[in-house]
Parts: sequence; structure tokens; C-alpha cells
Amino acid sequence: MSASPRGSHKVGAAYSVLLEKELYGEVDPTVHKLVWPSTGNYGIGGAWVGCRMGCTSIVVLPELMSRERFEQIESYGGIVIKTPGSESNVKEIYDKTWELRKDPDVRVLNQFEVMGNYRFHYYVTGNTIIELAAQLAEQGIGTGKVTAYVSAMGSAGTIAAGDRLKQQWADHLIVGLEPIQCPTLFNNGYGAHDIQGIGDKHATWIHNVWNMDAIMCIDDIESKKGLQLLTEEAGWRAMIDDFGVPEADVQQMARIFGISGVCNLLGAIKTAKYYGLGRDDLIVTICTDAIDRYRSVMADLTATYGAMDAREAAARVEWIIQGQKLDWINEGTRANRTQWHNLKYYTWVEQQGKSIEELDAQKSQDWWRQHQEMVSKIDAKLLEYRAAQAVSG
Ligand SMILES: Cc1ncc(COP(=O)(O)O)c(C=O)c1O
Repeated sequence: MSASPRGSHKVGAAYSVLLEKELYGEVDPTVHKLVWPSTGNYGIGGAWVGCRMGCTSIVVLPELMSRERFEQIESYGGIVIKTPGSESNVKEIYDKTWELRKDPDVRVLNQFEVMGNYRFHYYVTGNTIIELAAQLAEQGIGTGKVTAYVSAMGSAGTIAAGDRLKQQWADHLIVGLEPIQCPTLFNNGYGAHDIQGIGDKHATWIHNVWNMDAIMCIDDIESKKGLQLLTEEAGWRAMIDDFGVPEADVQQMARIFGISGVCNLLGAIKTAKYYGLGRDDLIVTICTDAIDRYRSVMADLTATYGAMDAREAAARVEWIIQGQKLDWINEGTRANRTQWHNLKYYTWVEQQGKSIEELDAQKSQDWWRQHQEMVSKIDAKLLEYRAAQAVSG
């Protein structure tokens, strides 16, 4: 699934987070400076949305993210603050935001913590998937039911759509993904990796780990080489000539995948193999952003490994796409879910000021339901606000 303004699935989340804060009087665009902690796309969304809503937008992101991200944020009028490290260095971003908070006019819109991010994906992404599944069934694809939803976590906003899908179909499977190079939930692992946007070395506050059925890990090199396969001439030729993929599909895939999108695709293949899914089982995943953000990463790949020729491209189809293995998989047993939940303690209680009572409350699905049910109240408040503006304005 892919169709987002500015080519990123994070723009809607950024809008929802800001809108909720404004409706509840926590942000006044005429007074406050907005800080968007990000590894890129939420910051791009924040700069785009925030600047259009008349706010100063400051994006805090690691210095080693792709060059295209910085350029895009600045082109929308956002101010960039670089922190040390790469994708998994989110602690450094948090430290910077605590420093910025000392200014009383700063409001930090922390995607890893705010339930507006959860709510956007629970409601908008979740219901969109349900509608799309029905449309696909009309075209003879699947039965209208989504068997599994596969999503790699950054803030763990996107994976919240799975909570909506599980309400629709009780036996629906939610599969989360991490990089092999930074397997935090998988085995408390750590490390640098290059699947930009995911794998941020902590369990985020807004992640409903009690609803996740499995965690699977994907190789960052396979994700990057897979993206090169989908976006360069030699890859297109191999898929069309050697594997019979229709040209129109090849052309479309070249436009809609970024690195974490390929990671999601590989996770969906792994999910199908692991659970033994068949033709009627619809597996949904998200094309999170696109190649326009990764040309520099692809150029580095070519400089390191050499150009991808026809033979290498065909080998990549067999090894990366067809050859996904059933390693690096942990199911969501009670013991594993407890361990995923307990990981939150170190970031959220020890570092970021949450109480143990708040953390414990997340063990009950009632806590998550209360946050889901706020959608209708927020909608009503928004309509009231717009009506009042129309009268005054
Ligand atoms: C490219 C990309 N992929 C995946 C994600 C993960 O999405 P989420 O933060 O909703 O978990 C992000 C988040 O910023 C991203 O930028």
C-alpha cells in the first residue's frame, strides 16, 4: 500500500499529532516552536505540515541519514539539528530534545511517545486496509479478509493498523520487523544498520507489543540490494526476461519502494512461508517511502560492490526475493510479549519520565482501547473547531 503526500507514509501521522495538540490547546502555532524528533520521514512530514500550518518546525535527526532527507526538510522551510550517529541512535535525539525543551516556547512532538501517531495509523491506515481488501476481492484477489499485516517498526505508529485489523478478524496475524543488525525486541540486540526509518534500538511507548504475533528480522544489505534490483535497468530486465514479471508491475515497483519498503516486502514473504499461507491469504504491508530518498545510498552500494549486471540481478531475485529463510523469527508467546513489554522500562521509566503505573497499565488491552476510542471525540472536536473558525472567519 502506498499513496501519501510528499511520498512518505509519515505525513498523515505528523498532521494528526499536531492537530490533536492544537485542538487540546497544547500547541499554539502563533507562539510555539515545534520540535519533531525523527530519523527522517516524520521530520519531512513535520516540516511540510508544520510550516504549512504557520509554525516554526525544527527537525532533530541523526547526521548519517541520507542526504536527500536533509535537503527535503530544508526545502519545506524546516530547521535541521543533526545529532551523532545513524538510524539506531535515537537516545541521542532524545537527549537533544530535553535540551531544547528548556525553551518554554518549544513543544516536542515525539512520535515515539504520542498517541496521535498510534491513533492515525490505527484508524486511518487500518480502515484504509480494510477498504482496499474489499476492493481487491472484487477484482478476484483474496477473499476480502486480511490474513496478516507485516510492518517494520520505527516509532511503531504504522504497525498500529494491525490493532484495527485484529478487531475486524480475530485470527488476524500482526508481524513486526527489525533489522538483523539491530535486533532489539528479537534478542535485546543492538547495533548500527542502514534500513533508514526503522530499528531504533528501543521499544517505543506507543507499540502495543501485547498484540504482536511474531517478530522477524531482515538483513539490511538484502533490503538495500533488493531496492537496487527493483530500481535499476539490469534488475528490471532480469525480472521481465528471466522471471516473467509483467513489465507494468516492474515499472510500478520501481516507483513505490524505498529500503524499508523492501524490508517489509521480504518480511511479508517470510510471513507467508512461515505460516504456510496460500493464494487466498492476503498479506498487507506498507511501501513507506520511495527511491527518490535513496539515490545516494544506491550510488554508495555501487561504489562498494560494483555495478549490478544481468547475472548479479538474476542471482538477487533467487537469493533475496525467492530465498528468504525461516531464521530470525520469534513468536508472540506470553513469555516473549512480556519481555518486549519489559524492555520499555529502561527507556520510558528510567530515562523519559513515565511512571511504573503508566507502564503497567499498558499490559491491559483496555488501555489501548481507551486511546482508540478517543478518535470519535477528537473528530467531533475538530468539526466544532472548524465550524467556529468558519463563523469567525
Ligand atoms: C522510511 C521509513 N520506513 C519505516 C518507518 C517506520 O514507521 P513507524 O515510525 O510508523 O514505525 C519510518 C518512520 O519514520 C520511515 O521513515
